[in-house]
Amino acid sequence: MTNTNFTPRVFSGVKPSGGLTLGNYLGAIKRFVGMQGQMETVYCVVDMHAITVWQDPKELSNMTREVAAGYLAAGLDPTRSILFNQSQVSAHAELGWIFNCVARVGWMNRMTQFKDKAGSNAEKQSLGLYAYPALMAADILLYHATHVPVGDDQKQHVELTRDIAAKFNHDFGRDFFPLTEPVIEGPAMRIMNLRDGTKKMSKSGESDMERINMTDDADKIAKKFKKAKTDPEPLPETVDGLKDRPEARNLVDIYAALNDVTPEAVIAEYPGAGWGKFKPALADLAVEKLAPMSAEMSRFMDDPAEIDRILADGAAKARAIADPILRDTYDIVGMLRS
Ligand code: TRP
Repeated sequence: MTNTNFTPRVFSGVKPSGGLTLGNYLGAIKRFVGMQGQMETVYCVVDMHAITVWQDPKELSNMTREVAAGYLAAGLDPTRSILFNQSQVSAHAELGWIFNCVARVGWMNRMTQFKDKAGSNAEKQSLGLYAYPALMAADILLYHATHVPVGDDQKQHVELTRDIAAKFNHDFGRDFFPLTEPVIEGPAMRIMNLRDGTKKMSKSGESDMERINMTDDADKIAKKFKKAKTDPEPLPETVDGLKDRPEARNLVDIYAALNDVTPEAVIAEYPGAGWGKFKPALADLAVEKLAPMSAEMSRFMDDPAEIDRILADGAAKARAIADPILRDTYDIVGMLRS
């Protein structure tokens, strides 16, 4: 089975639970936007995934708009990409159900993200959190997406998506769903916490100083980088010297990603530099790259009606692709249409 019969199409999603951080921007949104024009691009704010854990209703609507504003501020062009929120295209839920009936319980039990999130409290989690990878497979396969840019933590879910597609194709004797390729981020894309370089930069950590929010203004961005935790050593002469120095590694990675260069190039530019030199340079670069985006984001957030209009328009375009694929799926499964 090959994917050559399928139009190259990118699909990816960001969950609107909590605000967007620099990690979301460098690890996901920036790359998504960079794929515009290379092939058809479909980007989704996955609000139905967000409610697998409790979300305050007002906050959920706000965050859905904020994620959309983040995409737009980062350069997503709604005339070149489809941008919408998942719940406005009901075919996601419908195909999700079909896939609940294709995926096996044993497959779900192997998903490491559920185990990590649920911990010893699995019995108290929502059934949705457990079943969520089948909905993610539906998000992807509803568009016959051939490529899915995701972080490393989502690779297993894209593999599951391939398993679901293969089983569906096999069970019904049809080459109907593509076997989607994960497009995994480069090495510099795992952005870590500014106060603890061994932890991922998260939207929900207790201190705001540990992360850069996409909505932070120039003063905040500069202050957070200047106060970022480091070890006492200066930068090394080669990247090998960053080994076992998580905070130093992270700041070099961030500099590299913001400037679209390799960590090697950053070290070559600042060999042996002290933090008194490197941190202000990083702060300046971050302000230059991020502050205009955060200003653009607030401009969008001040005009929610405009965001809603863009999402509604995107949802209509998404339905035009998704609805015929769902209809064909129902026909293949034998759902009677009278
Ligand atoms: N599971 C992804 C995350 O937690 C979000 C997501 C939902 C997604 N559906 C998707 C990503 C489809 C890529 C494709 O980050």
